[in-house]
Amino acid sequence: MTTPLSGYASEIYLQGLGGGRPAFTTDATALEALAKESIEPGPFWYTAGAAGSGATARANRDAFDRWRIVPRMLTGATHRDASTSLFGAALPAPVLTAPVGVQGIMHPDGELAVARATAALGLPMILSTVSSHPLEDVAAANGDGTRWFQLYWPNDDEICASFLERAKNAGFSALVVTLDTWLLGWRPHDLDAAYLPFLSGQGLATYFTDPVFRAQLAKPPEEDLMAAVGAWLPKFTGGDHTWENLAFLRAHWDGPIVLKGIQHPDDARHAVDAGMDGIVVSNHGGRQVDGAIASLDALPGIVDAVGDQVEVLFDSGIRTGADVLKAIALGAKSVLVGRPWVYGLALGGQDGVTHVLRSLLADLDLNLALSGHRSLADLTRDSLRLR
Ligand code: FNR
Repeated sequence: MTTPLSGYASEIYLQGLGGGRPAFTTDATALEALAKESIEPGPFWYTAGAAGSGATARANRDAFDRWRIVPRMLTGATHRDASTSLFGAALPAPVLTAPVGVQGIMHPDGELAVARATAALGLPMILSTVSSHPLEDVAAANGDGTRWFQLYWPNDDEICASFLERAKNAGFSALVVTLDTWLLGWRPHDLDAAYLPFLSGQGLATYFTDPVFRAQLAKPPEEDLMAAVGAWLPKFTGGDHTWENLAFLRAHWDGPIVLKGIQHPDDARHAVDAGMDGIVVSNHGGRQVDGAIASLDALPGIVDAVGDQVEVLFDSGIRTGADVLKAIALGAKSVLVGRPWVYGLALGGQDGVTHVLRSLLADLDLNLALSGHRSLADLTRDSLRLR
């Protein structure tokens, strides 16, 4: 029998016999405060911040708090199986790392550290378009791991096709198209500090190594950084697309395509009609629309609408193992986790990411066990009650 995911708790207690302690907290809800003490305000608030008054980010957390788990007894949950699969890849638990841009502001290893940590744990990673390391380098660090590429859909078809080609060649197996960020939301923390790392060329490694993008520049980014940033900006932002445009992506990507940012059942139905393979029910961690519906509140209606036709993934607000359990019980196939491991990256590089993810998986396993669920299939809406 393999070691259960909760074995991480035993490891920690045993280390304690020799005086050892975890490098930093196992309490995912305390990571933000810890990171705040450790990193510069600009990168910290870029990560922790949200749109406008923060109402959406708070709503995301409130929604998790409203749902409560109803523990069941004597179900024989000695051995649990948290595994699942997505598009043919086996996962030890229904958890992926969300695409998070410009990770170099948190730690110099950035996406390379996450690529190594996730590969070792067998969890898929989703690499942002706006990464601090070129997608090929992240793929090399990820080795045999499962990796998906997240697309911020460029306002330039040739650059877009080039990114898809490169991602395919580098072994990214699924494409995640983020629909909710064709403009950046109103983010007071970043605005007050006039902090946007992309404007100093950070997070643009995949753009700056792209042959099509480079061919459009009078001088390469190494020689004229500001001109390259100026050329990048209108390619990246300011242009929305329509459902019809998805045909272009389908024509240039032969693997699964997942639409990220869905919050309405009708948009989920549009995704099905457009031949998409999955969706991520997400409000971008509350970073885009202020006063939006909690992503968890959007989930059940969307599952009812399309859950039997596409893979329904979820993110925005997941912090603990119990949160993962709740999202799965409400019909998500898997969840994406954002800020917690980003704080782990800032606090300890690859080891920090590993610690946060192992803590989450162990917490999930223990909550499954103690609430009497032996597998993800046992989790249904009857596992929860609304407060
Ligand atoms: C993000 N997110 C994001 N999403 C995306 O599709 N591409 C990206 O480059 C980024 N970048 C990014 C940076 C930072 C600092 C954060 C916090 C988030 C959104 C991310 O994928 C995910 O939707 C949210 O982070 C989920 O919410 P939680 O888990 O952070 O609450």
